[in-house]
Amino acid sequence: MKSKGPKTADQQWFRRVYETTPYQKLHWFSPKPHPYLAKALREGVFEAKARVLDVGCGAGTTALYLARRGFRVSAVDFAEGAVRAAMERARRARVSVDFRVADATHLPYRREEFQGVVDEGCFHSIPPSLRSRYGREMARILRAGGRFLLAWAGAESTAVPNGPHLLSLCDVLTTFESRFLFRRTEFAEREWGPLSMYHAVLERRPNTR
Ligand SMILES: C[S@@+](CC[C@H](N)C(=O)[O-])C[C@H]1O[C@@H](n2cnc3c(N)ncnc32)[C@H](O)[C@@H]1O
Repeated sequence: MKSKGPKTADQQWFRRVYETTPYQKLHWFSPKPHPYLAKALREGVFEAKARVLDVGCGAGTTALYLARRGFRVSAVDFAEGAVRAAMERARRARVSVDFRVADATHLPYRREEFQGVVDEGCFHSIPPSLRSRYGREMARILRAGGRFLLAWAGAESTAVPNGPHLLSLCDVLTTFESRFLFRRTEFAEREWGPLSMYHAVLERRPNTR
């Protein structure tokens, strides 16, 4: 399938965007957590006080929300401006999150360090050539049985300029199925403006590399 979105220099593109645009004006920014996340937490997707990573955290809305709910939260983004904004919001909200500038395909964490991971719009920004590396990295840092909440823009979306790669279910299965069980997959039409979003709950399989 032909992927849409920035194909080269993605990191430079995101870095520049956060340096030149107030985060509140970015089309993916939401001051409130996404409703499906609240629903997943109500359903007990993560155990109380679990150690959870928000990968591609942007300005930190999800990380702050998780920390307020008692989870032990780490959060990474490879754009320094995003992490700066998120740290400032956490400081103002008096919420504790371990924020770091890091690449999702090469994370500064030990094997099986987390019981949960949340990705809202990071994986669909990853260039196709790095997807399998990203999948390996998520499996490395998650414990067996750990949950991975993944939200991505589906191929059913209308393409937007400089938008994400629009991924078919098959693209996502190809990346994760060998290491993760797909517990649930939901589709929300035109949820983020022109983007139709999938939300999935994946579970780390035991005994895979
Ligand atoms: C569409 S935004 C979503 C941000 C945030 N999750 C939210 O929902 O507001 C995607 C984010 O992922 C970050 N990102 C993309 N590729 C990344 C990578 N390889 N490593 C770390 N962060 C990445 C971008 O800098 C950007 O902040």
